[in-house]
Amino acid sequence: MYDYLIRFYIFLRKKAVQKKLITNVGSINVDHVYRVPYFVKPGETLQTVSYQRVLGGKGANQSIALSRAGEAVQHVGAIGEDHKWILSEMANSNVGIEDISILQVPTGHALIQVDDNAENCILLYPGANEALDLSDLKKSFDGIKPDSWVLFQNEMPNLKEMITLAKSQGAKVAVNPAPFDLKAKDLPYDIIDLLIVNDIEAAELAEARLEGDQSKLSSLCPLVIVTQGTKGAICFHQGETIEVPAFIVKAVDTTGAGDTFVGYLLSSIANGMDLGSAMKRASAASALAVTKSGASIAIPTSQEVEAFLNKQSGV
Ligand code: RIB
Repeated sequence: MYDYLIRFYIFLRKKAVQKKLITNVGSINVDHVYRVPYFVKPGETLQTVSYQRVLGGKGANQSIALSRAGEAVQHVGAIGEDHKWILSEMANSNVGIEDISILQVPTGHALIQVDDNAENCILLYPGANEALDLSDLKKSFDGIKPDSWVLFQNEMPNLKEMITLAKSQGAKVAVNPAPFDLKAKDLPYDIIDLLIVNDIEAAELAEARLEGDQSKLSSLCPLVIVTQGTKGAICFHQGETIEVPAFIVKAVDTTGAGDTFVGYLLSSIANGMDLGSAMKRASAASALAVTKSGASIAIPTSQEVEAFLNKQSGV
């Protein structure tokens, strides 16, 4: 019955998808979110205030953000047999699930502590995300239309090869190399069209590739956007620098705020919005996301983002 419903959904969606598709190759996790008075210390046993199990993973969060921003998005990734509910949850958020493989490996998961300052600290078990084969991916890339966007984060294996493959299909490539690690330093930045990093990742990248000089980030690829938390975001493009301030809100949980920014930013850029407005829309979406608990469940719809922006400008 379950399989029948999924097949029926795929049939309906294929008919419905008219817009140019954005493909997102990314992690899917089960997030176990614990509210804590402070982060647990080495050797300590700490009682938590509350517990929530929600859909997460930078990839899944970004797909849902793209979809809520109004895009037709196809997710490429993997889960295990143990959490098939994820498929219906992503499908309910209008994310294409045909290219999500179900593998004989446990689904990836994250143990997330969120403290009273809305900050988090995350332990990641990659599980099925790490088992996605490059040959599965090649099949998913067959239908990519030249000039359509493909998005990547750094919670998947073979990132370098995947970026090269997407580019060889004529796609435009957006990369959010988070979480930043050794392999992120070695990506083919010269073929990336849009790079989105936070300020810590920007510093690490500059250290690894640009002798620590962040002002040279734009030499890596044509469009670089750096998110700076409560300080806002900055964009480097063709010798131009654009800065947008952050919106001031009461933060409850910052998990997934960056993913929300990435999804909304790419949606706006894919629709030809000017860079300043795209960054403003993405900042508004992530400001709204931090006012709620959880990652994917806190991502606002485009109507909510629009209403928020109108309120801010007194419309
Ligand atoms: O960016 C937040 C995400 O990072 C969480 O949902 C968690 O799963 C980790 O991947």
